[in-house]
Amino acid sequence: MTLVRHRRIESIVDAVGNTPLLRLRSLEKEAPGVEIHLKLEYANPGGSVKDRPALQMLKDAIADGRLTKDKTLIDATSGNTGVALSLYGAALGQRIALVMPSNVTKARKDIIEAFGTELIFSDPMEGSDGAIRHVRDLVEEKPDAYFYPDQYSNPSNPRAHYLGTGSELVEQIGDRITHFVTGLGTTGTMMGTTRRLKEHDRPIRCIAIEPAEALHGLEGLKHMESSIVPNIYDRSVPDEVITVGTEDGWDMADRIAAEEGLHIGHSAGANVFGALQVAKRIGEGCVVTIACDRGDRYFAPMRWEARYEW
Ligand SMILES: Cc1ncc(COP(=O)(O)O)c(C=O)c1O
Repeated sequence: MTLVRHRRIESIVDAVGNTPLLRLRSLEKEAPGVEIHLKLEYANPGGSVKDRPALQMLKDAIADGRLTKDKTLIDATSGNTGVALSLYGAALGQRIALVMPSNVTKARKDIIEAFGTELIFSDPMEGSDGAIRHVRDLVEEKPDAYFYPDQYSNPSNPRAHYLGTGSELVEQIGDRITHFVTGLGTTGTMMGTTRRLKEHDRPIRCIAIEPAEALHGLEGLKHMESSIVPNIYDRSVPDEVITVGTEDGWDMADRIAAEEGLHIGHSAGANVFGALQVAKRIGEGCVVTIACDRGDRYFAPMRWEARYEW
C-alpha cells in the first residue's frame, strides 16, 4: 500500500498558491461543446487573489533590501491586499501599517488589526484617494522609516501571477485551455497570467473584463476610463476587453452559490458571467476564469454590531 502523506508546511507562506481548478458543469449546459473552469484563488490563506502579489511584493523587497526589519511597510488599502499584507507581514516578522478612511466597516478594521497591523485613519470625506495621499505624505516626511509597495506600479504584482497563477494553469489545463478571462483591478492578475499563457505553444485568447458603469458595485474592479490607470497596465496585453454590469456580476455570484455550492464575491461573479458570454460565443473550446474572493467578505456587520457602534 502506498503511504500518502497529507501536506505539511513550515509557515503559512508555504500554503500560498496551488489553488484548485473547478469545472462549472451547471453553466456548461448553456454553452454545449465548451468547458468552463474556475480557479479558486479564494483558497489562499488570506482568502483572495491578492495573497500571491502581497507575498511577492514583500519577498522581492526583502530580497533586494528595499524592506528591512527597521522599516515599516505602509500602504493605503482596507481590502484584500490589506488582509494579505497584514497576514504575510506577521508571518515574516515585518511591521505593517495601513492607512484607510476612518469610516470603513468595523469588520474590515478588526480583520486587519487581528494580525497586529497598525491602522492609521485618513479623512472619511476624501475616500480612498485621501488615504493614498496620506500615505504619500507620511513616506515623504520619513522616507527612511517606510517602504511603500504601491501595488499599482509594482512589477512584483504581475510577477506573482506570471510565476504562480499562469504557470499553475498551464500545468492544470495547458492541454486544453483556449480562452482566459479575468477582471481588471490593479491589472496584476491579467498582466501576469496572460504573459505566462502567451508563452504556451498553442494560442490562448486572453480577455479582460471591466465594469460597464463608472459607478459600479464590483469591488476590486476598475472602470478604466473614469479611473487613474495603474502603471503596470499595458493595454496591448489583453486580446480584447469586454464589459459586465453590476447586476449581472451579483446575480451570477448568487447563482454559483445556489448551483455549485461556491459563495464567491461580486468581481468573481463578473468573471464567471464574462466567461459564460465568451463560452456561448465560441461554441467549442475551454474557458478559464478566476474566483478572486469569497462572498462572505462582503457581508454587512451583524445588526447587533451596528447597534454597538452607535
Ligand atoms: C475582489 C477583487 N477582485 C478583483 C481584483 C482585481 O485583481 P487585480 O488587482 O489583479 O487586477 C481585486 C484586486 O484588488 C480584488 O480584491
